[in-house]
Amino acid sequence: MRASPSSSDTPRDMGAAGEVTLRSDSAARTRRLGEALGALLQPGDMLLLTGDLGAGKTTLTQGIGIGLGVREVINSPTFTILKEYEGRLPLYHFDLYRIESPDEIYALGFDEYFQADGVSVVEWAERGEPVEPGQRAPWPESALRIELSSDGPDSRVLRLSATGARGAELARAWAQAAEEV
Ligand SMILES: Nc1ncnc2c1ncn2[C@@H]1O[C@H](COP(=O)(O)OP(=O)(O)OP(=O)(O)O)[C@@H](O)[C@H]1O
Ligand SMILES: [Mg+2]
Repeated sequence: MRASPSSSDTPRDMGAAGEVTLRSDSAARTRRLGEALGALLQPGDMLLLTGDLGAGKTTLTQGIGIGLGVREVINSPTFTILKEYEGRLPLYHFDLYRIESPDEIYALGFDEYFQADGVSVVEWAERGEPVEPGQRAPWPESALRIELSSDGPDSRVLRLSATGARGAELARAWAQAAEEV
């Protein structure tokens, strides 16, 4: 992982709101970044992935699985919405691309997974977030959001933003671990 350049020569970008940006120049590197994150995860951790088709959400999740000791190869769960994997901790891999409304999450009982002792990784998290103001998201307050975007055929930017104490701790620890990736 190559940290973003910054004028003060800090090893990574720290935005005003404590946001962190990681960069990847290959799918393999995105997987390794994921692996570093997977190694840090604890029961109940919540990762919200956003970004366009092909941004690298599943690729990152594959690495997270490796870091969690999942032996099965993680693939895109698009047609199943949720797939559960066994590792050091259970991994609940969601892909909300096909849901029609955030209410479906409750109808399908997915919110129970977010409270469980595994780790939840949600692709297309934005589709699970209510559009009405004042309504809350179906997942816990503390989460790490990872916004992936493509800025070249093999180049990806991962913008981290944390909510809650645990989300912030995870962002910090991952950014630090990423320096060694
Ligand atoms: N630096 C990179 N990081 C991640 N993927 C990359 C990178 N460079 C190229 N790729 C390629 O981009 C594609 C990313 O696909 P992936 O399925 O991970 O995206 P996704 O965000 O999960 O898409 P979808 O919204 O369809 O689920 C793969 O073909 C991967 O090989
Ligand atoms: Mg995907």
